[in-house]
Amino acid sequence: MTEINKVAVIGAGVMGAGIAAHVANAGIPVVLLDIVPEGADDRSFIAKTAVERMLKTNPAPFMHRKNARLIETGNLEDNLDLVADCDWICEAIVENPKIKRDLYARLDKVRKAGSVVTSNTSTIPLEVLTEGLGEGFAQDFAITHFFNPPRYMRLLEVVKGPRTRDDAYAALKAFGDVRLGKEVIECKDTPGFIGNRIGIFWSTVATRQAYDMGLTVEEADSIVGRPTGVPKTGIFGLGDLTGIDLGPHVIASMIDLVPAEDPLHDFVSQDHPLTKLTAKMIEEGYTGRKGKGGFYRRVRQDGRTIKETIDLRSGEYRPTQKADFESAKAAKKGLRALVEHPDKGGQYAWAVLSHVLSYSAALAEEIAADIRSVDLAMKTGYAWKWGPFEMIDMLDAGWLADRLAGEGRPVPALLEAARGRSFYREEGEKLSILGFDGEYRDVDLPEGVWMLADIKRGRQPVKSNASASIWDAGDGVAVLEFHSKMNALDEGSIEMIRQAAKIDKLGFRALVVGNDADNFSVGANVGVALFGANAAMWPLIENGVAEGQKAMQALKNSPFPVVAAPAGMALGGGCEVCLHADAIQAHAETYIGLVEVGVGLLPGWGGCKELTIRNMTNTKRPGGPMPALSAAFEAISTAKVATSAQEARDMQILREGDGITMNRRRVLADAKKKALAMAADYTQPEPIVVNLPGPTALAAMKMAVEGFYLQGKATEYDTVIAEQVGRVLSGGDTDITEEVTEKKLLELEREGFMTLIRNEKTLQRIEHMLTKNRPLRN
Ligand code: NAI
Repeated sequence: MTEINKVAVIGAGVMGAGIAAHVANAGIPVVLLDIVPEGADDRSFIAKTAVERMLKTNPAPFMHRKNARLIETGNLEDNLDLVADCDWICEAIVENPKIKRDLYARLDKVRKAGSVVTSNTSTIPLEVLTEGLGEGFAQDFAITHFFNPPRYMRLLEVVKGPRTRDDAYAALKAFGDVRLGKEVIECKDTPGFIGNRIGIFWSTVATRQAYDMGLTVEEADSIVGRPTGVPKTGIFGLGDLTGIDLGPHVIASMIDLVPAEDPLHDFVSQDHPLTKLTAKMIEEGYTGRKGKGGFYRRVRQDGRTIKETIDLRSGEYRPTQKADFESAKAAKKGLRALVEHPDKGGQYAWAVLSHVLSYSAALAEEIAADIRSVDLAMKTGYAWKWGPFEMIDMLDAGWLADRLAGEGRPVPALLEAARGRSFYREEGEKLSILGFDGEYRDVDLPEGVWMLADIKRGRQPVKSNASASIWDAGDGVAVLEFHSKMNALDEGSIEMIRQAAKIDKLGFRALVVGNDADNFSVGANVGVALFGANAAMWPLIENGVAEGQKAMQALKNSPFPVVAAPAGMALGGGCEVCLHADAIQAHAETYIGLVEVGVGLLPGWGGCKELTIRNMTNTKRPGGPMPALSAAFEAISTAKVATSAQEARDMQILREGDGITMNRRRVLADAKKKALAMAADYTQPEPIVVNLPGPTALAAMKMAVEGFYLQGKATEYDTVIAEQVGRVLSGGDTDITEEVTEKKLLELEREGFMTLIRNEKTLQRIEHMLTKNRPLRN
């Protein structure tokens, strides 16, 4: 069995560099090679600068800066032998079959027996790539198609040829899934595979129809945006984001590769005014956000930055205007309401969706193993909210077929097959999908892959209120799910935490705290605190703080193991829940931190206490209590958020023994496994005491903040909040010989919190956050 322990990536451009970084994120050593640039002093210049550039890129390709050290750079002339001990060689060079094949011939001479070679091609079928290469090479060859940017886009399309070794292919798929955390979708060997075949058709149709139907850029983006389940950047905005110069190449490559009868041909023409406009834009450097601007641009005018949009007909920029279609509002009632709306937006939505959905239905069997693969590919590769077949279910297949027929357009057989039924069927706890043969078949999830939705299907929660629920995940493990808006924690969430802390009474032996949402929890619902403060209901507020503390302590001191499974944002109160769990099993993309200072408060549900204890008991940090406290103080007083689970380790939020799961769909299973392992010989934690320095430490912290204030890096009110934080972390009126209990630290938190909530400036911060969704630095 092929085992992947070392990787080589050839081509250090946008994709190659990003793939190398992500392999490094998985902790795997990687060799990165590119050509020797003409006239350069440093022959490995391209690969080296690619790594340096990535250390400055935002969003960061690396989950932790230190991962860059796992990449060994070189060039294809002097260092080709570096691939000799690599188990997987991933080619990501220019999209040209001849150049790619020449490279494979060279690689074949130096690679070790049994190593796998793959191409990251976006469009070229495997059959074309292996033409003329030997049998041995073909057996070790496959396609691994990542999406840009490789760290963040979850789709990984894989394709095997008729001769590809099964075990090599299996090893690649497992590596992509478990180590790289990707949604690995097997595709048939056809041009553009699944994502780009449909995605390129979609973007071509959407832009062309916008022009032909006389919509402005903003109008098109207001429909092929949120209303059709696409990120709000919209279709032209997406072009700006990915680079307008990329489009013509990919389309040209696809046009060459797809069969003559493919409907893509109907929408691509060199003579179309939009093709000419984009060519002119590229020529003039309007390649999108990376260039001078694109369909949108920002310009300075009279000392202000204003946003402008290109007029598709004149090619001139004019101030951006917000589109205001009634149909876009109707979309809230469903996709049908959108495409049936008579206004121009509704007509445009129908034009785009009718083409894209019937194209998907007509092609699915040729390009994919099943309809779910198509949906998953579009959702994870193009960030669509719903896949094409989910959308057809939303519209109703029979209705769609009738409307197409009514317009004299072809109706794909698969659409007819779904008439009167749906592509997805839920029966009790079972989920099945309609096969190409017209029969339903169960969706079998691989071992260790499930979301809470799979537990919830057809079942009732063990306990539930409007903000949170408890589910039975089997084997004696319960899952506590938050489900309020943005998973902001309110009274109901706290109540359910309290309930979860005694689920042993219901026969459970472990608890996982996790959910399927994009964000684990954005923190406490501060609206309630603001309301209370405006009415001067201080006892009510203090009680809310105390109740939250009690619930967290109950979670921590429960007689069974609790494993928090955060993913996405876990901020403020959400972070505090994690800090009170016995262990954390985090998704690699977890953005966690105590951000209360941003709303003029301090972490009052035990966050100050836990971060102090974590840092004070961290035996790896030398130098006594001061450096440990400074670390906690810095994190809290600057509202620091780890931008990955790996970074959260540096902040002591994740401790030794806590785990990181790369694949979002494996997080809960891994957390459950951890919880069960801990349940075997679990003992309740002993109350913790720490020796804290008291006022001497507080003085040092105040001095540090004062320094930031003098440098203009902190506002005066920041120093006021920081002093309250410092007072808690240093232990209040104590000295290093005295032991400070958890209870005492919680008391200090409450005092600090109550002092701050009475301050007008704190209320301004809260109000600003609630209305503007970003912190105010007053
Ligand atoms: P790029 O232009 O950023 O990088 C290509 C790299 O190949 C450059 O660093 C170049 O120096 C190197 N190169 C050029 N000629 C070479 C040769 N003869 N031998 C070895 N290296 C050579 O291109 P990008 O975007 O990274 O694309 C690479 C591959 O990934 C292509 O096959 C592309 O279709 C595919 N792809 C691109 C995506 C994107 O969004 N940019 C997404 C998915 C796949």
